[in-house]
Amino acid sequence: PAKVAVLASGRGSNLAALLDAHARGELPVEFVLVGSDKAAAPALRLAEAAGIPTLALDPRSYPDRRAFDFDLFARIAASGAEWLVLAGFMRVLDGEALQPWVGRIINIHPSLLPKYRGLHTHRRALEACDAEHGASVHFVTAELDGGPVIAQACLSIEAGDDEERLAQRLLPLEHRLLPEVLRLLTEGRLRWDGQAPRFDGQLLTAPLRL
Ligand code: GAR
Repeated sequence: PAKVAVLASGRGSNLAALLDAHARGELPVEFVLVGSDKAAAPALRLAEAAGIPTLALDPRSYPDRRAFDFDLFARIAASGAEWLVLAGFMRVLDGEALQPWVGRIINIHPSLLPKYRGLHTHRRALEACDAEHGASVHFVTAELDGGPVIAQACLSIEAGDDEERLAQRLLPLEHRLLPEVLRLLTEGRLRWDGQAPRFDGQLLTAPLRL
């Protein structure tokens, strides 16, 4: 099976969704490492409970961001990982450190990209009076929440939504989206060589709706 590493900074509900999909037999991969920039991240505890090797690196013990990123990627490569999933990993990655992973690293972001890169996506969608909100999975580049969007899941914003309710309603969609994209990627159906992303050999002209 394809070897996958996951990076997560926090709660780890998207990591849990990947592990659940795997346990149900819907995601035939091997999780070789879960890493974090926060030693206290609940995501690391989830990984430990699932018997997956973990790694916690503290950015403050490196001279700069680049040094952290190069060490992080060296350790991920040493784990044997072929694919890398950012599941709530709240750091921008150095472009050069990232280079060997182009096309093999994806991120989930809680907005309909290219709308609302960065933080507070639910609040911003509400403030803009958007009719729709959603989550995106995209190939990672050095640009924050940039890189080609692979797939999105959408919901309608309802009258009763506030920031918290909207985030809560979106989360189950994220949990469906991320394992599905990882499955397509590791099956070789999705590809990106840094030029144009392809799905089943065809140019991906718009995000898949999953
Ligand atoms: C998720 O909503 C994910 O989309 C978001 O962080 C949350 C992590 O939750 N990611 C970003 O905002 C990345 N820019 P989790 O730790 O429960 O998976």
